[in-house]
Order: sequence, then structure tokens, then C-alpha cells
Amino acid sequence: MKLLLSGRALTAGAVAVATLMAGGSVAGAEPAAGHPAESTAPASTAAAPDIPIGNVKAHLARLQSIATANGGNRAHGRPGYRASLDYVKAKLDAAGFTTTVQRFTASGRTGYNLIADWPGGDANQVVMAGSHLDSVSSGPGINDNGSGSAAVLETALAVARSGHRPAKHLRFAWWGAEELGLVGSRHYVGDLGSAGRAKISGYLNFDMIGSPNPGYFVYDDDPAIEKTFKDYFAGLGIATEIETEGDGRSDHAPFKNAGVPVGGLFSGADYRKTAAQAAKWGGTAGQPFDRCYHSSCDTTANIGDTALDRNSDAIAYAMWELSQ
Ligand code: TRP
Ligand code: CA
Ligand code: ZN
Repeated sequence: MKLLLSGRALTAGAVAVATLMAGGSVAGAEPAAGHPAESTAPASTAAAPDIPIGNVKAHLARLQSIATANGGNRAHGRPGYRASLDYVKAKLDAAGFTTTVQRFTASGRTGYNLIADWPGGDANQVVMAGSHLDSVSSGPGINDNGSGSAAVLETALAVARSGHRPAKHLRFAWWGAEELGLVGSRHYVGDLGSAGRAKISGYLNFDMIGSPNPGYFVYDDDPAIEKTFKDYFAGLGIATEIETEGDGRSDHAPFKNAGVPVGGLFSGADYRKTAAQAAKWGGTAGQPFDRCYHSSCDTTANIGDTALDRNSDAIAYAMWELSQ
């Protein structure tokens, strides 16, 4: 959706307008903060909210400030990583999530995953969304992967704001040490054991979703998850392609290898946009999707707002759809 919304939380009225513009019914609108979901129709059938891009960008601005104050990065084992995790955790705790910090060691330094559970739903059917929160040491990592981290955070906060009570259990994760070789997500999947892994109905990964010269790539993995994302973009009239830049290059790989259904979105890294891709998506042919990939220029200036907005809304859509 291309509604221009300010950085504030949506009011009930704005949700109703957004819902109408999306062709939905006002009855499905989320209650305003402070009004419990129980007073309306069953929340589990409510439409997914439009994620406010201003809120996502506010999280990115904070991650940028954290990097700037900590030597220019948010890398594993550096103070900028822990500060990033503390920022995300405080938002989730205030919103009513049950948060867990999971410690591990990589390259002789302590790393952390952050897991946030939304109380309720079937504990034997967990729908999970995750993103890596660490940057490389050469830059602040705002597209890679502040973008996924901020969008997953804002989706979690939207669950809390709407009082969403889906049939399945919702879990959100922020991984450490992805840039060292998927260390945090491997640790989490290993620690779950086979019984824990069997309870995860799906894992959705978001790594680089606000590229400045963006493509719209959907992971070609679990068919139901893939279809959910494709349906969302088809509804907006936006063509998607299958992600081919590097299967297994992000935190869905350990889940996939353990037999968990996975999916995800990606807006492109150092590969160049073709003429055909520029024709359908706009942007600049012959240039990388993200010319600042793993560089010091991966700052808040390195974000494509439209891609970040669409992908954030797609995350919410998928989490709502897949948890019914
Ligand atoms: N963090 C990933 C990496 O550095 C980013 C990435 C590159 C990626 N190519 C990808 C993520 C393809 C998903 C799919 O490798
Ligand atoms: Ca939005
Ligand atoms: Zn990376």
C-alpha cells in the first residue's frame, strides 16, 4: 500500500481508512491501543495491518545512531551489537513479549540471539520470523540487515498493538553473528533439538529488504510460504522473481537443513540489475541492487523506502495469513 503515514502508531481511524483502501472491511480493523481485542470480532480473522514505514525508519535511525556511537558498526562481539540488541529487546518487553537472550561463543567472543514469544496460540504450531541483527565490521549495516531487523521488530509491535491472537504461536528472532557464517541461527536450531524443531510450522527470513536499487525476490522454498508472499505482491501488481543470488546465504539455511519449512524476501545485494528487471521494477539497469553491500556507506542513506515499505507490509501479511 502506498498510504503516506507519519511515524506515529496508526490510530483506529487510520487503520479503518487503510483497510477500506485495501478493499477490506472496517469490521476487520485493529482496535486502538488500550482497547482490548476481546471487544471486537475474533482477532484471528482480522486483516493484517499496514506497517507504518515511518516506524520502521525510526528503528533504522536508532540502529544508525548506535553504530555511529560505537565505532561505525554493529558487528558481532562489538559494543554496537549488544546496544542494538538492547534497543530491540526494550521495545518488545514494553509491548508485552516474552523475550529470551540466548548466548553463544563465536571467534572467541560472546554472541547473542534475541527471541521474542507472543503469548498464546498453539505451542505445537510455531510460526517464526527472523532476521540477523549483526552488521559486518566495515559498516553500520543498515540495509544488511537493519532493514530486516527493523521490519520484523515493527511487525512484532503491530501484533501487540492490534491485540492479535492467532491460532498458531508467534515467535520473532534476531540473530547474532550471521556475518561470521550463520553462527547464531545455527546455534538456535541445534539447541532446539528434534522435538523443538518439529514444532516450528514455518520460518520466514528477512535479510536485506530495503535495497536502494531494489528487486523483489521471494525465496523458492516451502510452496505455501512462497505462495503467500507471491499473492501479496500480486495484489499490489508487482512482479516478483525467485531469489537466486545465493541460496543458503542467510539464517533460513539452518532451519531448511533441519527440515523446517522456510521462506523469505530479499531485495538484492551486489548483483547487478538487468535491463529486464529495471523495466519491471524501475531503478537503474547495470548497477548493483545495493552498491554499499558490506561497505561503510550502508547507512540510512542506503535505503529504498518503497521497497522497505512493501516488504514490511508483506511480512505482516504473511505472519497473519500463516498463523490462522
Ligand atoms: N547477509 C547475507 C550475506 O552477506 C546477504 C545476502 C546476500 C543474502 N545474498 C543473499 C541473503 C541471498 C539472502 C539471499 O550473504
Ligand atoms: Ca506500510
Ligand atoms: Zn551480509
